[in-house]
Amino acid sequence: MEVQIKHAQSLLEKMPKVKLGFFPTPVHKLEKLSKKLGVELYLKRDDLTGINVYGGNKMRKLEFLLGDAISQGAKHVITFGATQSNHAMQTATACRICDLKPILFLLSIVTPDENDLRGNMLLDKIVGAEVNIVSSEGKPIFEGLKLSRQQSEKRIRELEEQGHKCYVIPAGGASPVGTIGFISGFVELMDQMNKKELQLDYISHASGSGGTLAGLAAGKKLINSKTKILSFRVSEKPKEHPETVASLANDALNLLGMDKMVTPDDLNFDINYLGEGYEIPTEASTEALKLLARTEGILIDPVYTAKAFSGLLDYIRKGIIPEGSKILFWHTGGTTALFAEKQIIGDICS
Ligand SMILES: Cc1ncc(COP(=O)(O)O)c(C=O)c1O
Repeated sequence: MEVQIKHAQSLLEKMPKVKLGFFPTPVHKLEKLSKKLGVELYLKRDDLTGINVYGGNKMRKLEFLLGDAISQGAKHVITFGATQSNHAMQTATACRICDLKPILFLLSIVTPDENDLRGNMLLDKIVGAEVNIVSSEGKPIFEGLKLSRQQSEKRIRELEEQGHKCYVIPAGGASPVGTIGFISGFVELMDQMNKKELQLDYISHASGSGGTLAGLAAGKKLINSKTKILSFRVSEKPKEHPETVASLANDALNLLGMDKMVTPDDLNFDINYLGEGYEIPTEASTEALKLLARTEGILIDPVYTAKAFSGLLDYIRKGIIPEGSKILFWHTGGTTALFAEKQIIGDICS
């Protein structure tokens, strides 16, 4: 394993990158919850990536994405998400570190109150991002994001006519370059586990755009890891989504000069814990969020990590994950959503 890790690290070092976050992020065991559930449960703390206390998984992707933007001579960065998008907020923050101008096109699934901005919308404004709100018109998020993309084209043309080079990042940072960030994340974790002499049976995480999963799946192929990846989907996606994620993984591997093939069959998606839709809490996600907060003092978010954690809990309780298994839950951040609009937060205080 050590040889494969070293080889992967040497490939990753060749990619353009800016240093944004605090890596490696910590891994620690949840002692009380492990005992309660009859497994060994570890947490990978990507909620602590920095650069401020509102970090998250996107910082990994942004190190490579903004490295690429700078190497192309861009000065403006355009990206997409919902109004409470963690990705958009982290992009805006990261752009400031790199002297790039952040331009956001944000889909209002939950309409923000301009006089009482909350969560990530508030942070976007504090860091001075240009915010363009796009009405979702009741469409599923992936349809709404297409609309945002169309609306951004006029602004990009305008900037290009003024002689500015724009760098466009898809929602969630889910491009082959962004995906390298999570190949790097997987290698980082395997290096940590190797040093602890700990062989994980499962890695579990929330999946949105699919970029995180693409990177994890590609990283797993790259170093021939046996650890299973369980991905809980938190948003509706078109039916070709598994093929899209596999291509993303393979395109990222190609950028590293590797031709290992990830196939849709390598991906374990579970959409059963999504509930009624993106940004709508479920009873189980609310229970999962409270359980972690009240047993271990760890805060997760209602939109992504709580839904994924509710799925993981259900797998453990039903014995789909055998007793005694070594499981790592990837805390991908997003806790700013605890300060978002009421309908996103759900009933977390009772
Ligand atoms: C907190 C959190 N967890 C998980 C994800 C999912 O990551 P990905 O979009 O790479 O699938 C996101 C994406 O925005 C997120 O904000």
